[in-house]
Amino acid sequence: CLWVRNLRLKRRLPGPFAWPVVGNAMQLGQMPHITFSELAKKYGNVYQIRLGCNNIVVLNGDASIREALVQHSTEFAGRPNFVSFQSVSGGNSMTFTNYSKQWRTHRKIAQTSIRAFSSANSQTKKAFEQHVVAEATELIEAFLKLNAEGQFFNPAHELTVAAANVICALCFGKRYGHDDIEFRTLLGSVDKFGETVGAGSLVDVMPWLQYFPNPVRSVYQSFKDLNKEFFTFVRDKVVEHRETFDPEVTRDMSDAIIGVIDKADSDTGLTEAHTEGTVSDLIGAGLDTVSTCLHWMLLLLVKYPNIQTRLQEQIDKVVGRDRLPCIEDKASLAYLDAVIYETMRYTSFVPLTIPHSTTSDVTIEGFHIPKDTVVFINQWSVNHDPLQWKDPHLFDPSRFLDENGALDKDLTSSVMIFSAGKRRCIGDQIAKVEVFLFSAILIHQCTFENNPSQDLSLDCSYGLTLKPLNYKISAKLRGELLTGA
Ligand code: HEM
Repeated sequence: CLWVRNLRLKRRLPGPFAWPVVGNAMQLGQMPHITFSELAKKYGNVYQIRLGCNNIVVLNGDASIREALVQHSTEFAGRPNFVSFQSVSGGNSMTFTNYSKQWRTHRKIAQTSIRAFSSANSQTKKAFEQHVVAEATELIEAFLKLNAEGQFFNPAHELTVAAANVICALCFGKRYGHDDIEFRTLLGSVDKFGETVGAGSLVDVMPWLQYFPNPVRSVYQSFKDLNKEFFTFVRDKVVEHRETFDPEVTRDMSDAIIGVIDKADSDTGLTEAHTEGTVSDLIGAGLDTVSTCLHWMLLLLVKYPNIQTRLQEQIDKVVGRDRLPCIEDKASLAYLDAVIYETMRYTSFVPLTIPHSTTSDVTIEGFHIPKDTVVFINQWSVNHDPLQWKDPHLFDPSRFLDENGALDKDLTSSVMIFSAGKRRCIGDQIAKVEVFLFSAILIHQCTFENNPSQDLSLDCSYGLTLKPLNYKISAKLRGELLTGA
């Protein structure tokens, strides 16, 4: 009845006891997404914690998260005004900016420019795929070189260079060699980005930590330094583009964004600084995520050699040994897609989305959440929700195949790694093409093996992305190395 409903609406959100000053900060542990899932067992899928002086609502489980992000998409489309967010992309980021009319325009421009250079028509589609194929073969050469040097190697850095090159080719029409020291150094520091903007970062909830010497302050200082260095790199390239801009010829995504933001007549409020912010956002988002996904895939292929062998057999059957796999093979390679989806689900390597905030008062599962509340969205809990997944803690790609070996599309769409709603990732389509082509080509061309003296663990470091800890593998060519040419 109405009376009971009103009572429930007025009920305080459940949640653990919060200590003065720090709140629940000391209880988050090394893996906050696991802690949040454990707390959900006690308090339900929607509860409140306190970090520093912020009340934070944590959403868990498939039903609550979809209710919030899809049915109440506008109410959950905000971003908090965290101190770390202001250092990103020269302070003109689209990703780390709160919901507004100007943000909507900004996002649309970024989305349109990605589409224009990846899927607008068959020509751009082909060009994008060729970039990825070329990077995949360069990557194999870099792996083989490392193999020759020391037998077992850590693939992490070469994967970052490869993913960065794909997005740099789109944005700047330029790639960098795996031996380019300056580029490698830049990417080496960008790797640390996610440690500070991941949900639960202490400087954001206790900003006073930046004002006296302590470990959080030094991590935050390096975060500001790496953002400055990365943004300077991007801004220099955009400035070069601006100086040689020709409205008749759109060479790459930087030109496309310059054309829409710098040269626009309409009063969007967006400035040249936003052009630079957009390009910096896209490069930052496009390199860490795709490389982390491939990093996990390699680890799992080495850990489960039977799965690697089954993939090689299927790819050989569909593609043969005389050419490289291409995107048209995707429809016939359901098992590879299943391995990719299971890697995303099982590792949930973006365990929580970038923090959200509410843009107005909203009610979720009967609980009232006021405007401007910080919201953490636990994607890991969606992917391990026992109501949705049988044996969620097992790595089992075949869960995505039906009895005829075809991909179960209902189940693949239940995996949450790109978030949902108004803040859903805008690079999801290009990311899927990249992950498919990179993995298909790597597996077709090489066999990856573990160092027998290494106990292969799935331990990882926490941040915006979960990264496997240092592991070493070997790569052996399965035949003559093919190139995309
Ligand atoms: C946002 C995942 C690749 C561009 C996000 C978010 C997630 C995500 C979880 C946060 C959504 C939220 O806060 O609710 C991934 C994964 C990727 C990937 C798993 C690869 C496997 C890419 C690529 C690009 C990209 C390749 C572009 C080149 C963006 C942008 C946003 C975003 C611009 C911010 C959207 C906004 O705030 O409105 N992504 N992403 N992502 N992603 Fe991706």
